[in-house]
Amino acid sequence: MAAGARLVTLPDGRVLGVRPVGADDVDGLAALYAGLDDDARYRRFFSIYRPPRSFVERLASIEDRGGRGLVATVRDGDGPAQVVGEAGYELLANGNGELAITIDRAWRGWLGPYLLDCLLEAAADAGVTGLEADVLCSNLAMLSLLRSRGYALMPQDEPSVVRLLVPTEGRGRLRWPRRHDAPRLLVEGCGGSWRGATAAARAGVQVLGCPGPEAPANRCPAARGEPCPLAEGADAVLLNRPGESAAWDALRDAHARLHPEVPVLVDRRGGDGELRPGEVDVTGHDPARVLHEAARHARSRRAARVRRLARARRQRARPTPDEGTFAPLSAGRDASRIGAGQLPDRAGARG
Ligand SMILES: CC(C)(COP(=O)(O)OP(=O)(O)OC[C@H]1O[C@@H](n2cnc3c(N)ncnc32)[C@H](O)[C@@H]1OP(=O)(O)O)[C@@H](O)C(=O)NCCC(=O)NCCS
Repeated sequence: MAAGARLVTLPDGRVLGVRPVGADDVDGLAALYAGLDDDARYRRFFSIYRPPRSFVERLASIEDRGGRGLVATVRDGDGPAQVVGEAGYELLANGNGELAITIDRAWRGWLGPYLLDCLLEAAADAGVTGLEADVLCSNLAMLSLLRSRGYALMPQDEPSVVRLLVPTEGRGRLRWPRRHDAPRLLVEGCGGSWRGATAAARAGVQVLGCPGPEAPANRCPAARGEPCPLAEGADAVLLNRPGESAAWDALRDAHARLHPEVPVLVDRRGGDGELRPGEVDVTGHDPARVLHEAARHARSRRAARVRRLARARRQRARPTPDEGTFAPLSAGRDASRIGAGQLPDRAGARG
């Protein structure tokens, strides 16, 4: 059996196999795609595109490009194995993977979640911490599938499409993309969407949106009293129209207790509600001002880290090469320049 392969015995005695995709799967994949109806093709490709053979050949060779691909196959009697589902990701420049998944209509209902979990496990084994996917707002099955794994919203210009990020390990324990050099703003509330997301992309600020503590099936670690890797890694957290509920209270307490060094900006709904000690009021501010605030915190946090690093270096007789791990934000190799209030060059940055 290939590494990473699994076998599932079905109630009718047949055996479903899940294994890494390979060159021998081109015909099976072509048949899977040829069997999709217009609706499924639209959900998968955002048009009723009929993928040519070169497309499935590319899917079958995804591992050659550093991604991972899985196929689910089942055999009826002595006939050839049929590909009934495929899931895979291509590596992105930020270290995450771009996810796609397709299940034969007859096999929907459980195979999608099963195959997705197999892929998340394979991605985690490969050191990929997050998978990203563009999903049509009308694709309720895919949205529900990804949301149940815990998700954050990434900026996306198309109004009919959302871009979701899901963690590969620990449902809801999302991490920032590993390779980056931009200030990071975590927005919480309003389903994860924020009116300043487009301005942020233009200003070079990386924004992730969490749905907020009142969202259904919320998997927010901070709301459960556990440190949140997204909040820990953010340069600032924006509470976007927080409510007065116990869930919001718990989240705000958690930020103050678990991530006290991360500034919390608050855009109060209609100016209502009280600010907590240390929170910064940005109610009614233009998004550009909020982004400016986030970038300012990014610079001062990085400068503080650089000072800590320099102090640690002075105290050690022999510096070790991996001392940069003390700077979890993108201090960059040329960290000394940040002390002068400059963010690092793209080329010099590391996550
Ligand atoms: C999206 C897809 C992979 C999901 O796989 P699946 O086996 O159908 O998954 P499920 O039937 O378990 O549905 C996933 C979840 O969506 C829910 N769901 C399914 N159809 C739904 C609908 N019309 N409205 C609301 N929720 C729906 C299910 O109840 C399930 O939620 P649960 O886990 O809370 O029970 C599969 O439907 C598919 O291949 N679709 C066509 C291609 C596609 O859309 N690919 C994704 C491109 S981004």
